[in-house]
Amino acid sequence: MSKEVLVRVENVSKKFCRDLKTSLWYGVKDLTGELLGGRQGQSELRPKEFWAVKDVSFELRRGECLGLIGRNGAGKSTLLKMLNGLIKPDTGKITMDGRVGALIELGSGFNPILTGRENIYNNGSVLGISKKEIDKVIDEIIAFSEIEKFIDSPVAYYSSGMKVRLGFSVAVHMKPDVLILDEVLAVGDSGFKIKSFNKINEMMKNAAVIFVSHSMPNVAIISNKILLMEYGQMEFHGGKCFHRIDKVLRIIVGG
Ligand SMILES: Nc1ncnc2c1ncn2[C@@H]1O[C@H](COP(=O)(O)OP(=O)(O)O)[C@@H](O)[C@H]1O
Ligand SMILES: [Mg+2]
Repeated sequence: MSKEVLVRVENVSKKFCRDLKTSLWYGVKDLTGELLGGRQGQSELRPKEFWAVKDVSFELRRGECLGLIGRNGAGKSTLLKMLNGLIKPDTGKITMDGRVGALIELGSGFNPILTGRENIYNNGSVLGISKKEIDKVIDEIIAFSEIEKFIDSPVAYYSSGMKVRLGFSVAVHMKPDVLILDEVLAVGDSGFKIKSFNKINEMMKNAAVIFVSHSMPNVAIISNKILLMEYGQMEFHGGKCFHRIDKVLRIIVGG
C-alpha cells in the first residue's frame, strides 16, 4: 500500500525580472494594483521578465526521495524556496503536509552573530519546536555535527563545511516529515557525506526527501524518483529510468 502524499505541486510557475530597477518598478505597480483591488495578469510576462519555474507539477509520498537535477540556473533552488514558503508562486498551488526541514542556501538559516548553540534554538523556534523539545535533542545535534569545540562561537566564524554540518544536523534532528536538501552535501568532507547519506536513508522510512545534487552517483544511490529541470520546465519526471540517462546526461553536460 502506498503511503500518504506529503508534497503536492500543481502547475507551479514563478517569474523573475532580469533587471533590478524594472523589478522594483513592477513590485510597486503590483502592490498598488493589489491595494486597489485590481488583479494583474500573473500568468503573463512583462518586458525583461522570464519564467524561472514554469508549470511544474509532481507529488511526493512519505518514503520517497526525489532527486532534483538540472544545470545551474534551471530553477531548482527557486522551486525549493517555494516549497519551503520563502517565496510565493505566481501561478499554481503547493500543498505540504507535516513539518518541513530545509537546508537551501548555505548558512541562510543562521544568524551569524549568534553562536551555533543559540542558532539551534533559533531554528527550532522558527519551526515551532519548544525549547524543552530541543533540550532533549541538542546533545545529539551537536554530536552529529562534530563541531563541539566551536558550538559556543558565533556562526560568523564557521567555515562553509562547518555550517553544512550544523545545518544538516539541525534539519534531520527536528524530525521533519519533508526534508529538503539543496546541493548542501557537496561542501562536506567525505566522512561527513557518508554519515549524512546513511542518515537520509534512515529518515526516508518516515519522511519524504527532496535532494538536489550535481553528483549523479549520489542522486542514483539515494533517490527513487527523478525530476530533471531545464530552463524552469520539467524535462523529465519519473522513476529512475536508465534508458533515459543519456538524455539526462546530455542536458546536464550540455551536449
Ligand atoms: N531573486 C531573483 N531575482 C531574479 N532572478 C533570479 C532570482 N533568483 C533566481 N533568479 C534567476 O532564476 C533562474 C533560476 O535560478 P535558480 O533557481 O537559483 O537555479 P538553480 O538552483 O537550478 O541553479 C536563474 O536564471 C537565476 O538567475
Ligand atoms: Mg540552486
